[in-house]
Amino acid sequence: MLARTFLGLAATAATCLGASLQQVTNFGNNPTNIQMHIYVPDRVASNPAIIVALHPCGGNAQQWFGGTRLPSYADQHGFILIYPSTPHMSNCWDVHNPASLTHGQGGDALGIVSMVNYALNQYNGDRNRVYAMGFSSGGMMTNVLAGSYPDVFEAGAAYSGVPHACFLGAPAATPFSPNQTCAQGLQKTEQEWGDLVRNSYPGYTGRRPRMQITHGLADFLVRPQCAYEALKQWSNVLGVQLTREVRGVPSPQFTQLIYGDGTQLQGFLGDGVGHEPSVNEEQMLRFFGLIN
Ligand SMILES: *[C@@H]1O[C@H](CO)[C@@H](O)[C@H](O)[C@H]1NC(C)=O
Repeated sequence: MLARTFLGLAATAATCLGASLQQVTNFGNNPTNIQMHIYVPDRVASNPAIIVALHPCGGNAQQWFGGTRLPSYADQHGFILIYPSTPHMSNCWDVHNPASLTHGQGGDALGIVSMVNYALNQYNGDRNRVYAMGFSSGGMMTNVLAGSYPDVFEAGAAYSGVPHACFLGAPAATPFSPNQTCAQGLQKTEQEWGDLVRNSYPGYTGRRPRMQITHGLADFLVRPQCAYEALKQWSNVLGVQLTREVRGVPSPQFTQLIYGDGTQLQGFLGDGVGHEPSVNEEQMLRFFGLIN
């Protein structure tokens, strides 16, 4: 009861200008029958950026809308937030599904891309400023979208996720599934991880999404090794090597890993941080280029 009241207050605070989270039906090709909610701030920009915000297992659009401070940043900066939600597989995204792991083939990934295209058309969105972020299963799907749809997403931020195609070959991708090989830290070479991304869209030679990978080093549900593996993957795909580590960024327990000049790939590893959504909105939005 207390939790419900608290969430209610948080939602009210985020929407004090009048805009609210709205469901959209008939947004286009939706092969797995997932749902779309959208938050369009009252003072939406004329050519707005779009962020897809992906809930964890057991979550939904309303829950994740209250799960970060992104709505108030949208109010201040005029960008649009899309909150997809899945009613399937314990509300976990289908990151094991070969269709989601292949460009244009279907799965939850294609439904999410349909939501992006709907919002781009409906609100004159900026095709060069489309982003994805998410926690846990949502972080996993962020890596899947970046791998399968590099033409759609300019950058992504994955919190407590796993590499693109880590769950390929598993029957499901939930914490209750008997196969936890991926979440327990499945290791491959940089080349193998990179090939899994490139094979998701054969022949593609355009730009690749810039990535931020954040993980708690005391996460026993989705092991921190998964973050090291994701960093190996994007390091290979983006062609950037680890150049330095900065302790205490963005907060005391985190260490920032900078690849190349830091514009393409960054990691954040939290000492003593468990499986929790340690989203630092400022750090993420600055990396996306949406705030200074
Ligand atoms: C378990 O999942 C991994 C991928 O995460 C896959 O490579 C492996 O074949 C799966 N094992 C079984 C027995 O399904």
